[in-house]
Amino acid sequence: MNCCHCQTAERQFDAARAERDLRSYLHNGPGKTTRTILDAVRRSGEPIATLLDIGGGVGVIPFELLAVATESATMVEGASAYIETSRSESQRRDMADRIRYLHADFVEIAERVADADLVTLDRVICCYEGFERLVAESAAKCGRLYAFSIPRDRWHVRAFVALQNLMRRIRGSSFRTWVHPVRRIEDLLVEAGLEPRFESNGLVWRVSVFVRPRGANAPAEGRSSTADQRIPNLADPIG
Ligand SMILES: C[S@@+](CC[C@H](N)C(=O)[O-])C[C@H]1O[C@@H](n2cnc3c(N)ncnc32)[C@H](O)[C@@H]1O
Repeated sequence: MNCCHCQTAERQFDAARAERDLRSYLHNGPGKTTRTILDAVRRSGEPIATLLDIGGGVGVIPFELLAVATESATMVEGASAYIETSRSESQRRDMADRIRYLHADFVEIAERVADADLVTLDRVICCYEGFERLVAESAAKCGRLYAFSIPRDRWHVRAFVALQNLMRRIRGSSFRTWVHPVRRIEDLLVEAGLEPRFESNGLVWRVSVFVRPRGANAPAEGRSSTADQRIPNLADPIG
């Protein structure tokens, strides 16, 4: 994959990083933003038969949802090390035939990606400069729920991200992160026919879930779920 995003992602998210992320997941469970997304999806009670996870890393969201009621997942990821690590973990979990891996910049292949009940971008939008296309193209794939996490648009977060980018520049890395305007992201989701359902703000990260109202113009392929795919509404914290 030769796109500009993927070349940068390959260097930033290499095999060592993928191994570290997988070990952390196996020992500690999903990270904080991922847990918040999973919890919100479960509590929504929405049936989720199909998942599209963009920038899914080692595949924590697919693994967690396929273990309950979700039937199949597509993961589009710009870093091949994450794909390889996730694919081998999916084999260990006997889930390989239910996850489709696409190594690409999602924006570049969006028209070839199927719609899904749930679309997730966990700590992804901040790694992508052209966030407007990423958000608009991914929202168009959403049949029911759209969940994402981004760094909060606050001065202390901006200062921290600017410092991180300066360190990267000094080290010669071309990878950058951005604090994109949350208002613009939300406007794009509303323009795509979605409505805000859930929001959680930590010191650094914000998690939001949007929903496509029933009867609204949902993508045709995304409407495959039945009540059987409802994610159990767990009372216990996810860990
Ligand atoms: C910080 S990692 C987050 C991984 C995982 N979601 C997590 O929370 O642990 C961001 C990932 O998003 C991927 N990514 C960013 N923009 C992307 C795009 N347009 N298409 C595909 N992958 C993308 C990067 O390759 C990277 O692996």
